[in-house]
Amino acid sequence: MMILGIETSCDETAAALVTGNGEIRSNVVASQAELHARFGGVVPEVAARRHLELVAPVVREALGDAGATLDDIDAVAVTARPGLIGALLVGVSAAKALAWARRLPLIAVNHLHGHVASLYLRPLDLDPPFTCLLASGGHTMLLDVQERGGYRVLGTTLDDAAGEAFDKGARLLGLGYPGGKAIDELARHGDPSAYDFPVARVPGLDFSFSGLKTSLLYRVRDLPAGELEARRADLAAAYQRAIVRALVQRIEAVGAERIAVVGGVAANSELRAALPDAALAPLPLCTDNAAMIASAGRYTEPSVYPDYLSLDARATA
Ligand code: KG4
Ligand code: ZN
Repeated sequence: MMILGIETSCDETAAALVTGNGEIRSNVVASQAELHARFGGVVPEVAARRHLELVAPVVREALGDAGATLDDIDAVAVTARPGLIGALLVGVSAAKALAWARRLPLIAVNHLHGHVASLYLRPLDLDPPFTCLLASGGHTMLLDVQERGGYRVLGTTLDDAAGEAFDKGARLLGLGYPGGKAIDELARHGDPSAYDFPVARVPGLDFSFSGLKTSLLYRVRDLPAGELEARRADLAAAYQRAIVRALVQRIEAVGAERIAVVGGVAANSELRAALPDAALAPLPLCTDNAAMIASAGRYTEPSVYPDYLSLDARATA
């Protein structure tokens, strides 16, 4: 069994080949980050057009890397929700066309399920039950995972996602887009105790990051002229510490025995170090990729030809 995964929900055009038992045969990710950097964030229309240019070459490269052809593919899995609607439509249309041409089954995957399913790929091959923190540019959620086919949402963000907090913070610090990785790197040279940033007090298991972002805005604004350069690393370190603290506090509040962390923010070195006993998604599988989509496809009901010709992309989960 060989699954072709396709992911185009945001600004990564990705394709991967994954076997039925979770081995990654190829995993190609073409990032559009540079294209969007000068706008300070993803421009949906620009992303959709770029996906259109990249999706066929990226699928071809994924097949080539695995030494496979379309004849070897048994099913096509594609992100159908949630995400930028124009971007999603490119992947869904490409997947439909590929599946239709060969009368293959099509599997419509939820992108969030995809992030969780990054843990089901070999060699990690993690088995539920576990409590999962999903922290990305678009989502911050605590999930109760009892089986590989799904999950139950325990808590979510009331405003910004954790990755969004990193990106907006990076922008305030003049670090460009996307900013999570830049803050992570700069924070290593800073003193996290130089500033005291608040961790929002939200009842239950939900998150809130907008107050933290505002707090950074004021700190930067109140700096004497020309001081930002000298204070940037300390601000990055303290700001990152506050985000990591908020995430870790919530995980601890669940009191679960087994913890896993997935999504782009799971790549953060301080978060990884703060959770030594957690199952962490492997670094290349934290940010958006298609191997995780193919992996989720292994646990999602496929749709047969011609039923999937009416499949639509959806912006919401
Ligand atoms: O999962 P992902 O690729 O896309 C979404 O589904 O949203 O996550 C992207 C997010 C961005 O906000 C990016 O800044 C953040 O993950 N990110 C990081 C790091 N690497 C990526 N945040 C903190 N530290 C990192 N090392
Ligand atoms: Zn994602």
